[in-house]
Amino acid sequence: MRIRTSRLSWSKLEADVLVVFLNSGEGASKVLAPLEKQFGLALAGYVHQRGFEGKKGQKILLPLLASGLSYKALLCVGVGEGALTVDGWREAYAHTVKAIDQSQFESLVVAELGVRRPRGEVFARMMEAAAEGAWLAGYRFHTYRPEPAKHEKSHVADLCFAGISAPEERAARGAFAQAEAIVLGVHLARDLVNTPSSDMTPADMMGVARRVAARDPRLSVEVFDRGEMEQMGMGAALAVARGSALEPQLVHLKYQPKTKAKKKICVIGKAVTFDSGGLSIKTADGMMTMKCDMAGAAAVVGLFQALPELAPQVEVHGVFIAVENMPSGTAYRPGDVVKAMSGKTIEVLNTDAEGRLTLADAIAYAAEYVQPDEIIDLATLTGAAVIAVGEEITVLFANEDRLAQGLQRASEEVGEVVCRLPLYQPYQQLLKSKVADLKNIAGRAAGSMTAALFLQAFVPESVAWAHLDIAGPAFMERDTRPDMPQGGTGWGVRTLARYLQSQNR
Ligand code: BES
Ligand code: ZN
Ligand code: ZN
Repeated sequence: MRIRTSRLSWSKLEADVLVVFLNSGEGASKVLAPLEKQFGLALAGYVHQRGFEGKKGQKILLPLLASGLSYKALLCVGVGEGALTVDGWREAYAHTVKAIDQSQFESLVVAELGVRRPRGEVFARMMEAAAEGAWLAGYRFHTYRPEPAKHEKSHVADLCFAGISAPEERAARGAFAQAEAIVLGVHLARDLVNTPSSDMTPADMMGVARRVAARDPRLSVEVFDRGEMEQMGMGAALAVARGSALEPQLVHLKYQPKTKAKKKICVIGKAVTFDSGGLSIKTADGMMTMKCDMAGAAAVVGLFQALPELAPQVEVHGVFIAVENMPSGTAYRPGDVVKAMSGKTIEVLNTDAEGRLTLADAIAYAAEYVQPDEIIDLATLTGAAVIAVGEEITVLFANEDRLAQGLQRASEEVGEVVCRLPLYQPYQQLLKSKVADLKNIAGRAAGSMTAALFLQAFVPESVAWAHLDIAGPAFMERDTRPDMPQGGTGWGVRTLARYLQSQNR
């Protein structure tokens, strides 16, 4: 989708659809008066009659049935009361693109009528959010069906902001470039998650990381195979990999800023390319979406694709251990004791709690070979996180308030929702094993917290660490939010990008 601006007014432009954002209470008649005059059509009465009140998310697409007009339809989008927040603009544009999805129209002009666009500094942020919302909503996964199916209508190819002044044009261009870099990262993460596990194996994930790193001289990548992981003593991650015919891969991406780095941040992603549960096998229903179990690593790779354009002044490392969790004659068993890279022994009582085993070694690797100031991990770790806060929200755990607050602020700014839970230390006891240092499951209660406490056992106390359990929002079963389509969402790319950019302030 091409996004651009024009100095011309809506009345001098031409497209399939003219878009107007309306506040509730504002009365459509006043806003639509210039349109009525230009088109010689009565519009406000019709809009009102159809029950449009400008409420948030309300939309009405109105064909302009007269020949010789420069638009084929008018789209009114309600945005609720008052001025829009940056978040509100993102949502409004996402709704706009979704509304057009249901039609055959392809080009849009957004009129400088209705809700006032902000001026000055906020203008650029609004344009960035608007473009982001439009692009996020316009995502399609077409790897396996390049031609859209009959039921899938055409979608927006061109979006133009009318009535943008010359100095604003400059700011808009910069904003679009930022938004595009981030959205391309999100779309890459979505594609990786949506690609079935047979085509997104650990080796495929490694290949994608290599391709991303090759795009810019500030990026680099190192890869380690099973033998090298054995030498590093990664008995926990390798135990998970043992049941699969596929080779595990340890991938270490790096971004080096041009100027002196202020900080070193390591982002770690869970990368289980398919989670069958192993011998503690999942139900058929439970397995249906488990191609998404590498969404944490997908977000890391998506982030790295965006980093050169975002150019944060921090050194960023991205680490993931890609494995497949399968049952077989060589699979690890409930009751097995494995030794992690940190030296701790783990009694495996459930092979479906595999993510924490791979992360334990990824975290130990980061602590030893990266020695970062901060570790942030993203993982589709527990069904319990979904039970706690539902499909749209990520659960955040952190051993340091400043890092937690930084991530919370970043997530708020980009409209990805997180909810922090405590790392309640007395529950460490629930992970006590009779035969090893730790066991990999606790009871049913506080499932996402005991998983986080398990990870904490592998994080050095001197390192600030945050864990994002993205089991809910990594993969949407249905279309509920316009910016989070059904399937892989790329959750985390935008929060991480914002967080890293905030380090420049
Ligand atoms: N990958 C799953 C968690 C998951 C569930 C992600 C639903 C996305 C949607 C994880 O490996 C898992 O199976 N966790 C178990 C842990 C349990 C055995 C302690 C769970 O949540 O049931
Ligand atoms: Zn599992
Ligand atoms: Zn899993």
